[in-house]
Amino acid sequence: MSKKITVLLSLVLAAQTSVSVADNANGKKLYLQRCAVCHGTDIRGTGPLANKSNPATPDLTLPGFRKRLDEYPGVIVSSVILRPSGNLIPKTLRENGVKIPPHAWSINDLRDLHQYMSSVIFRKN
Ligand code: HEC
Repeated sequence: MSKKITVLLSLVLAAQTSVSVADNANGKKLYLQRCAVCHGTDIRGTGPLANKSNPATPDLTLPGFRKRLDEYPGVIVSSVILRPSGNLIPKTLRENGVKIPPHAWSINDLRDLHQYMSSVIFRKN
């Protein structure tokens, strides 16, 4: 794991355990604006672009991903920062004429997004 992501992750996890409560409204807004077009409002991979890429957008509420998130709480944050699938996401957006303006992610944004998505994913137990 790179130094940058390690530092960011520890900041996000520290922010989570601090007295400030994560802002689910902000997390939800970020998710709906930037992720739902593929991942779907239900995080089950049901967005309009879900099947426009190869691989398709996965259902993140399935036990496999829940286990992954449990073991590696940084997986959501790292998927935003590290772009582990390379060009796949920008390419899919471009090919389908969807523009998502760039965003200057703050630590709180990453914390809120992580918190919001986790709450939806684990609610479906
Ligand atoms: C253009 C469609 C698209 C958008 C927009 C998108 N994703 Fe994804 N996402 C995917 C696809 C496709 C995969 C599977 C990639 C793969 O397997 O290589 C994926 C995988 C993931 C994973 C699983 C990673 C893992 O290692 O298991 C997470 C978490 C994730 N996305 C979070 C997000 C978040 C958070 C956003 C918004 C900030 C977002 N995605 C926006 C298409 C998208």
